[in-house]
Amino acid sequence: MASKLTPYLFRPAFRASRMASRAQCRSFTVSPRVCSDALHVHRNTPDNNPDIPFKFTEQNNKLIEEILKRYPPQYKKAAVMPLLDLGQRQHGFTSLSVMNEVARLLEMPPMRVYEVATFYTMYNRTPVGKYHLQVCTTTPCQLGGCGSDAIVKAMTDYLGIKPGHTTEDGLFTFIEVECLGACVNAPMIQINDDYYEDLTPESIVTLLKALKESATAVGADAVATVAKVPPPGPMSGRDSCENSKGLTSLTGQPWGPEVFRKDL
Ligand code: FES
Repeated sequence: MASKLTPYLFRPAFRASRMASRAQCRSFTVSPRVCSDALHVHRNTPDNNPDIPFKFTEQNNKLIEEILKRYPPQYKKAAVMPLLDLGQRQHGFTSLSVMNEVARLLEMPPMRVYEVATFYTMYNRTPVGKYHLQVCTTTPCQLGGCGSDAIVKAMTDYLGIKPGHTTEDGLFTFIEVECLGACVNAPMIQINDDYYEDLTPESIVTLLKALKESATAVGADAVATVAKVPPPGPMSGRDSCENSKGLTSLTGQPWGPEVFRKDL
């Protein structure tokens, strides 16, 4: 009996040693672990509670009027997502007061608005830093170029924080996200509304340094440091997502009546 049970007794230890010997940070089939200590439920805090007043600015009220014109009056609740986005941009994050104000404007039960805001991860329900760093760690970005694991490591080393956290100076919030639709320029990162692509550990650190300098510079230095921030897009010299080795196909005249354009 004991000899029959022996393989089962040693199986957990064997599995643990096999996992430990894997070089990969995480399996391609596993979603990134949420390393953040952020709660997935709302708890009132000094900067996020229903007693904090929130009203849209005059300019945003005009935008809301325009947005509402896109929907039949009886379906104005369909505008909940663009209004939440507007509220997040104005307030810095989608606080409880922002959600309540959107519910009031759209004449919806607040719970319906909370359901939308908690379903979509792009609504930040806690404050984020001046630069929201969303590094893609889905499979093509894990495999493309140097791989997103190297980017995450370079960022962790430079910022001194793990994914899900904000730096003490409030400048950077760093999270891992799933595919952002720029796989052909992997690995990539979204910083606020901009994509930076074809990253290497060196280029991401250069970018973060430039952003930090531009955020902390004062006076005459400020303009010069802002100019040093690399423009969004590929950081490898590519214009877009063209083949970095140059043209490798369709290099001759095609068979048939079609011909190449003379101006190319
Ligand atoms: S996998 Fe990273 S952008 Fe698609």
